[in-house]
Amino acid sequence: MSVKILNKEVLSDFSGVRVVRMVLEAPEISRKSAAGQFIVLMVSEEGERIPLTVVESNAAAGTVTIIFQEAGLTTRLLGKLNTGGSLYALVGPLGHATEIKNYGRVILVGGGVGIAEIYPVAKALKSAGNDVTTILGARTKELLILEKELKSASSQFHIATDDGTYGRKGFVTEILKECLEGGKYDLVYAVGPIPMMQRVSEMAGKFGVKVIVSLNALMIDATGMCGCCRVVVDGKTKFSCVDGPEFEGSKVDWKGLDKRNRIYADKEKHICNLKLR
Ligand code: FES
Repeated sequence: MSVKILNKEVLSDFSGVRVVRMVLEAPEISRKSAAGQFIVLMVSEEGERIPLTVVESNAAAGTVTIIFQEAGLTTRLLGKLNTGGSLYALVGPLGHATEIKNYGRVILVGGGVGIAEIYPVAKALKSAGNDVTTILGARTKELLILEKELKSASSQFHIATDDGTYGRKGFVTEILKECLEGGKYDLVYAVGPIPMMQRVSEMAGKFGVKVIVSLNALMIDATGMCGCCRVVVDGKTKFSCVDGPEFEGSKVDWKGLDKRNRIYADKEKHICNLKLR
C-alpha cells in the first residue's frame, strides 16, 4: 500500500544542498513513535530502503514528519516527489527510543541535517524537566534549519557557522568547550556528520560528561538480519538498527564507522549520474 505525502516543504536550497521536510500519512507509526526512533522507506518498488529519523509524530492527525538532505540517489528521488504524491512503502518505528528522564542540565549539539534529529529529543528532554542548552552548527546561514523550533525548546541557544555568516564563526565544539568550562552538565547529546560527533564525544569526555550520539550507519533490512549497519562500540560489534541508533559516543569506533559509510560512495555517484541525467 502506498504512503501519501500530505505536505512537502523545501527548508533550504543553497549551493547544491537541498534539505526537504515531508509530512507523511502513517497513522499506526504515529501512534507508537518516540524521540530517537526512525522509519525505513522505499520511494519505489525497485528502490533501496533508507532509514530516516522521525522528526515529529502526530497521533491525532495520523502523520509522521521526516527531514532529509538530498545526498544520494534515493533521497534525490524522494525530493522529486510532491504534496499529494505518494511513496511505495514505509515501516517503523524502528530502533530504541532515546532514554528520556530528568538528567538535570543537558547540551544538545546538532550539525547540518542532524539538527532535525535533535529536535524531537530537545522537546522530550525539556518536557521531562531538563535545562536544555542547544548548539547548532551549519556551513553557512542559508543551510541552518529549525532555528525557531529549537530555540523554543531550549533555555540557552547558540549557533555556529563555518563561514561566520550567522552566529559565531567557527565550530560547535568551541561553543561546547565554553559551556562545559562554564558550568556543570549531566549529558551531551549530539547528531551530525561523523567528524563532528567524534569531536563532540572527545570534548565531552575531557570534561567527564556522558555523551550520546545517534549514528547514521548504512542500513538494508533494519531488522538486525543483514549486518550492514554494524558498528564497533566498546570493542563489541553492534547493529545500529536494533541495538541503536544511539550509543555512547566515547565508545564508538569512529574510524571504522566512517570507512563503512564511504564504502559505496563511488558506486552511488555512478548510479546517480546514470539515473538522474
Ligand atoms: Fe541490517 Fe541493521 S540494517 S542488520
